[in-house]
Amino acid sequence: MKGIIFNVLEDMIVEQCGMVVWNDLLKKHAPPERVYISAKSYAETELMAITNDVALMLNMPLQDVVKAFGHYLFNGLASRHVGVIKRFEDFTSLVMGIHDVIHVEVNKLYHEPALPTIISRIISPEQIEVTYRSPRKMCFCAEGLLFGAAQHFGQNITIVHTVCMHNGADHCILAIELQHD
Ligand code: HEM
Ligand SMILES: [Zn+2]
Repeated sequence: MKGIIFNVLEDMIVEQCGMVVWNDLLKKHAPPERVYISAKSYAETELMAITNDVALMLNMPLQDVVKAFGHYLFNGLASRHVGVIKRFEDFTSLVMGIHDVIHVEVNKLYHEPALPTIISRIISPEQIEVTYRSPRKMCFCAEGLLFGAAQHFGQNITIVHTVCMHNGADHCILAIELQHD
C-alpha cells in the first residue's frame, strides 16, 4: 500500500482525533520511527490495524470507518493529482474512467502500485454498476471513494453493495443510483 494512502489517513485522524492519537496508533501498529513516504510501499496490514483500532476507539463498525476514510481519501487523492481529476466533466465520466484512465495514470506515476480491478458499466442515465475485484478486499473504501467523487461533482447518489467479497463472493458489485433533479 502506497505511503500516500497512509498520508491521507494521517491527515484525517489528526484532523478528527488529534496528533496524540495518531502518534499512539503509529507506535502500536507500525515499526519504530515509521515515516510514510507517498511513493513508497508499506504493508497494508499496518493500514488495516490502524483502521481497526480507530473503529474500536470510536465504537463504530469497521466497514463504516473504512467507508468514511474512502470518502476523505478521494479529496486527498484529488488534491494531490489535480490534473487527473480535471479530465472529467462529471461524476459518470469519472466513474467510467477509474480503471482505464485514473488507475492507468497511477500506474505511470507510482512504481508497482497495488490497484484493484474495477469495471464500470452504464445501465441507464440513473444507474452505474461498478464491479470490484482485489485481493485486498477494500470494497468499502471503494464505496467511500465513490461518495467522495459524487460530492466533488455535486452529484447525489446512493449505493447498494449487492454482492460482496466479504460474504464469500469473488467480486463485489456496487450498484450506484444517480439522483437527477
Ligand atoms: C471513485 C474513484 C476511485 C475508486 C473507486 C478507486 C478505488 C481504489 C481502491 C479501492 C484502492 C485500494 C486498493 C485495492 O482495492 O486493491 C485504490 C488504490 C489507489 N488508487 Fe484509486 N480509486 C479511485 C480514484 C482514484 C484517484 C482519483 C486517484 C489519484 C489520482 C487514485 C489513486 C490510487 C492510488 C495511488 C492507490 C494506491 C495504490 C497502492 O497503494 O499501491 N484512485 N483505488
Ligand atoms: Zn464488497
